[in-house]
Amino acid sequence: MTVGLSGHSALAAQGGPAGTAGPAGTVGPGRSGGPEGADGPQLPCARGPLSGAVIDRLRQGSGPLPSGRYGTADPSQADPSEAAPSNADLSDADPYGEDLQLALYVLYELHYQGFAGVADDEEWDPGLLTVRRRLEERFLGALRQDVEVAGGAQESLAGLLVEPTGEDGTGVTHYLRREGRLWQLREYAALRSLYHLKEADPHAWVLPRLRGRAKAGMAAIEFDEFGAGRAEDVHARLFADLMADLGLDTAYGRYLDQAPAEALAVVNLMSLLGLHRSLRGALIGHFATVEVTSSPGSRRLAQAMRRTGAGPAAERFYDEHVEADAVHEQVVRREVVDGLLSDEPGLDGDVAFGISATLFLEDRFAAHLLGAWRAQRSALRSP
Ligand SMILES: [Fe+2]
Ligand SMILES: [Fe+2]
Repeated sequence: MTVGLSGHSALAAQGGPAGTAGPAGTVGPGRSGGPEGADGPQLPCARGPLSGAVIDRLRQGSGPLPSGRYGTADPSQADPSEAAPSNADLSDADPYGEDLQLALYVLYELHYQGFAGVADDEEWDPGLLTVRRRLEERFLGALRQDVEVAGGAQESLAGLLVEPTGEDGTGVTHYLRREGRLWQLREYAALRSLYHLKEADPHAWVLPRLRGRAKAGMAAIEFDEFGAGRAEDVHARLFADLMADLGLDTAYGRYLDQAPAEALAVVNLMSLLGLHRSLRGALIGHFATVEVTSSPGSRRLAQAMRRTGAGPAAERFYDEHVEADAVHEQVVRREVVDGLLSDEPGLDGDVAFGISATLFLEDRFAAHLLGAWRAQRSALRSP
């Protein structure tokens, strides 16, 4: 699967002539490496009091954590098992803002590759889990309020197929296919690497929560994403090869500091839905959205890579997804979504929510990218 929804942004794409020179702040030349750095990813720089408290705690192994329970006015309701609160109060934090999204991202990474110098056991530290839960409540509460869900799962899935095509498309992949410059493709790959270097990992968590057709279909797709038994074909590996073609650093987590909140939120949604059994319906809705929209978006990105001469591995990643995701789309619709809803019809609304929440956050990310690129600015945060 590739993420890269292409037809749902309301933004029209504009930009200058093709070229390779980027604005100040664009990604620089990379160094060689693998999808996993030898020493593990480095902790990022803080973006405010919440992320600062979480990162300090992980760096030092002790210290105050953010306080404040979203939606609970009575401070006596606070969990007495948590660490002494820092002065970072998350009840006022912008749920889509840099600080909260980075704090959540860092806490989720403890369940993936972790960070250099941070003990593996921190994954299950009760104080950190309490903070994560509160950040999730803030984020999920905002999504439930802001995301419009029109109809059930089938209507929402059908809506994914009526995206603009060809020259009329206004999304990021249309823009990149038509007129994207090499520096913009590099920025796109750097930001998408937050997911693609752990491609399909957030969705693997749902497997024990499924049964029958849904489980079998999901496992079949995940088997492909994880290379069908061949390490060199693991999609995260193929993406690292793409990054190398583009002259990017392929180390896991290398571009976290450069990723704005809009890019973090897209990945945080996957982790949120993947880690909670109660959100399994939404996770399947999210997964279906990615698989259904991946094939046409990948075709456009493969064309963009060819036009800019990005390199054979860069072309291969997206070529591979044109083929694979055309099949995955069928499996996800007929087996995973239908199988799940046959088993648990009460999850229909959750599947629809997962679809709409994915589109909502992808649209915000697209607006950020196209807004920056149209103004000839880098879409990355300054290092
Ligand atoms: Fe994939
Ligand atoms: Fe796929």
